[in-house]
Amino acid sequence: MPSVEAGMAEYYLRRAAYYERVYFKPERQPDLRAMAAWLAGQFSGRRVLEIACGTGWWTLHGAAGASHWLATDLNPATFAIAQAKAMPASVAFRALDAYRLDELGPDQHFDAAFAGCWWSHVPLPRLRPWLDALHARLRPGARVVMLDNRFVPTSSTPISRRDVAGNSYQQRSLDDGSSHEVLKNFPSPEQAIAALGPGVRDVQWQAYAHYWVLSYFTA
Ligand SMILES: C[S@@+](CC[C@H](N)C(=O)[O-])C[C@H]1O[C@@H](n2cnc3c(N)ncnc32)[C@H](O)[C@@H]1O
Repeated sequence: MPSVEAGMAEYYLRRAAYYERVYFKPERQPDLRAMAAWLAGQFSGRRVLEIACGTGWWTLHGAAGASHWLATDLNPATFAIAQAKAMPASVAFRALDAYRLDELGPDQHFDAAFAGCWWSHVPLPRLRPWLDALHARLRPGARVVMLDNRFVPTSSTPISRRDVAGNSYQQRSLDDGSSHEVLKNFPSPEQAIAALGPGVRDVQWQAYAHYWVLSYFTA
């Protein structure tokens, strides 16, 4: 795994036990309540593949009406926290590298996909190939929802640098005193929609104060 992606994975592994503190930020509560309520209605009766589920904060809401929900993450230690929650019966967990969707096997079919706060961590040169690989796993007419953070100066970690590919980075500290440079991108609606390519329809961008939600169907 390239070092930027490996560093990100290591950072979230070390943060897993208290990752959900980010969901207690007071200024984000109105967005979180509205998004969670909306998400619950997006996957009714569908077989959903969730990428990078982490501690399952969104899983709990998104899976409410799904017929099957496969929550995946690179690190089992992060979704162990999700597994300890009272999840809908439709939810199953599996360790999976988001860049190795081929490991799902040909018998695994999905008509929906979801990723929360994952898009922002995909290096820009990998974004379109990753989306193509995801869409290739989905049936025609699949429902897809991505959501992620907007950059809000009063709430977000400052951007510490940008690289030649246009990626932005943050310098983040953990409770153990360690410091980690984490790739974190904040796309405009135009950039995000352009990255989807031509094989999608009914694309919608919803901007909240602290988050964005991109939803669409595969053609
Ligand atoms: C920002 S957290 C998002 C967690 C959760 N989706 C949420 O929104 O609360 C990023 C997650 O990506 C996972 N991750 C890092 N690299 C990954 C990879 N290559 N494949 C799958 N998951 C990965 C981390 O373990 C972490 O749980």
